[in-house]
Amino acid sequence: MTAITIEKPNRLENSDVLTNKAEVALHINNMSIYYGETKAVKNITMEIRQNEVTALIGPSGCGKSTFLKTINRMIDLIPTARYDGEIMYDGINLLRKDINVVQLRKEIGMVFQKPNPFPKSIYENITHGLKFAGIRKKQVLDDIVEDSLRKAALWDEVKTRLYDSALNLSGGQQQRLCIARTIAGKPNIILLDEPSSALDPISNAKVEQLILDLKKDYTIVIVTHNMQQAARISDKTAFFLNGDLVEYDHTEKIFTNPDKKQTEEYISGRFG
Ligand SMILES: Nc1ncnc2c1ncn2[C@@H]1O[C@H](COP(=O)(O)OP(=O)(O)OP(=O)(O)O)[C@@H](O)[C@H]1O
Ligand SMILES: [Mg+2]
Repeated sequence: MTAITIEKPNRLENSDVLTNKAEVALHINNMSIYYGETKAVKNITMEIRQNEVTALIGPSGCGKSTFLKTINRMIDLIPTARYDGEIMYDGINLLRKDINVVQLRKEIGMVFQKPNPFPKSIYENITHGLKFAGIRKKQVLDDIVEDSLRKAALWDEVKTRLYDSALNLSGGQQQRLCIARTIAGKPNIILLDEPSSALDPISNAKVEQLILDLKKDYTIVIVTHNMQQAARISDKTAFFLNGDLVEYDHTEKIFTNPDKKQTEEYISGRFG
């Protein structure tokens, strides 16, 4: 396999200055995704902008997770899945067969709906990938553990039990640990698939605040079934229906004055 080196795009030094013309993180061009003969995601063209939160909404089965999993090629783990079109990231088409997917998944991290900590200590959950990447100094690892747990709003709850099993954490804490683990890998883009569907309202509020804090440094794409959540935290919202991208616009526009009747019906709860 040819290893494609993906250089990190320059982070924006001061995203506030550029909010109106935020740079494009991902250019998706005519991308379709199939399971066997079934086309689950149909000819999607859209741009995802750097340092923004992009929400994907739509009824169950419309293709949101499929779309998300394709961005970092987790979809490759499903033998029947295939895709065509392009996802351009820093000048590279991420759908190319010869992409180094291990490196890609470091650049584009993902947090799943169901928390999936490793059956190891809290500390090791965060350091596992770092050690794999060759970081060995204890002080460096300690600092990254603290920093990522703080960013994930979990530090205060776990600082006295870092060497306990992550599996003893509550579901909400496990999910924040998974977010901390993703942050520790310093990705450029974070994909979140319904990250708070298993959380209580307090943990959910923490995760939402976390997402808002993270967008200063990261580009975030989040799937959510919670319309209020999408409205609260996202800059752009994409509405999917049966694999089609029906409407994609500023979140405020989608939730107050969408162009399409189907979008209006969905956000007002008339179906889905
Ligand atoms: N591994 C698979 N094999 C075959 N079909 C699949 C597979 N995974 C998903 N699908 C189908 O692809 C379509 C899109 O599924 P996907 O999981 O992307 O939907 P979703 O929008 O994430 O739904 P939900 O909101 O319920 O999570 C569905 O019709 C689903 O049944
Ligand atoms: Mg899904």
